[in-house]
Amino acid sequence: MKTIDELIQDGVEGKRVFVRADLNVPLEGTTITDDGRIRAVAPTIAKLAAAGAKVIVASHLGRPKGAPDPQFSLAPVAGRLGEILGKNVSFATDTVGDSAKATVAATANGEVTLLENLRFNAGETSKDDAERGAFADELARLADLYVGDGFGAVHRKHASVFDLPARLPHAAGDLIATEVGVLKKLTEDVKRPYVVVLGGAKVSDKLGVIDNLLEKADRILVGGGMSYTFLKAKGHEVGISLLQEDQIPVCLEYLARAEQRGVEFVLPVDVLVSADFPDLKTKAPANPETVSSDAIPADKEGLDIGPKTRELYAAKLADAGTVFWNGPMGVFEHPDYANGTKAVAQGLLDSDGFTVVGGGDSAAAVRTLGFDEEAGGRRKFDHISTGGGASLEYLEGKTLPGLAALED
Ligand code: 3PG
Repeated sequence: MKTIDELIQDGVEGKRVFVRADLNVPLEGTTITDDGRIRAVAPTIAKLAAAGAKVIVASHLGRPKGAPDPQFSLAPVAGRLGEILGKNVSFATDTVGDSAKATVAATANGEVTLLENLRFNAGETSKDDAERGAFADELARLADLYVGDGFGAVHRKHASVFDLPARLPHAAGDLIATEVGVLKKLTEDVKRPYVVVLGGAKVSDKLGVIDNLLEKADRILVGGGMSYTFLKAKGHEVGISLLQEDQIPVCLEYLARAEQRGVEFVLPVDVLVSADFPDLKTKAPANPETVSSDAIPADKEGLDIGPKTRELYAAKLADAGTVFWNGPMGVFEHPDYANGTKAVAQGLLDSDGFTVVGGGDSAAAVRTLGFDEEAGGRRKFDHISTGGGASLEYLEGKTLPGLAALED
């Protein structure tokens, strides 16, 4: 992969450089609740602008249905990107239409333009190669060079991620280079014990990665909604907890394989339960009950790991040489159910190992819970990935379209 520094050495002054970023940030109305992804790609944009490029930044946000939808506008992101860069960011109100053409044409050397949400055009995500290609052709007319730096989207075979780099001289941005470097370390150069913590709602999202990690990890700790399908597979009743009944056979197979291979597969020993899902808006006290994980009442659902599990997981993390964590342990958005996720975050910080937080919910969780910045001499995580699905698919051993497209 060509690096951005090599691209700059070849000369970018006066060139229109299309930067595919992942600016898919969580929004409440027009307020950005976690700007981690904007901060992560800003150095690439700043570097290109400093080298005199006309920087055209593009991204998706949310999952609009191939047509403009104001709730998914990138306009709030333009403002925040400008604040972070310390310079004005012009905003085009479409992707390849009159506004984009005029705004790009008016972008001077060293200036930055952000296009509207790429997914407002059906060609971006189309499964039809020709439709995607036609949109990529239109995007290609807006630029001279391409920089891929939207790590969070490299697992998507989308026009701006996969088809556009084939149409322009291209390089990988610094964020992608960093992310891939860290993931390589997790696959090729692992210091042991290698402990993996997996959480989140759906066990089906994590099956591929478990399959692969059973060959590589020494311990796998499971929490969050996905743990109830494993508990059920082990013969426990899980009340009204999240359950993917159809995944029980594969969970049983993984538990058996873990035993055969000597991988410790650790499930919660206790959980916090309630008859009601908590109110995440008012955050009214939820008064959960703590029960053993083999005694979840029929009318209650598990919403976080319990205190004994917190201690157990902290102990299993203490001597780790490497930790990869993806997915919260409970409904961390509510204070009564945040302690499991906090305990895992703290466990990573207390270990001397190389610690990686997978993107998506777990990255948002550590920042929301105030764990990402160094405070009072506390150690930081070694890496907080900007890609949830992307880092999982990389660890599954899959070829990621957005990385393959940057290879040649
Ligand atoms: C993400 O949030 O994981 C990336 O931005 C990709 O988004 P998508 O799952 O909607 O493709």
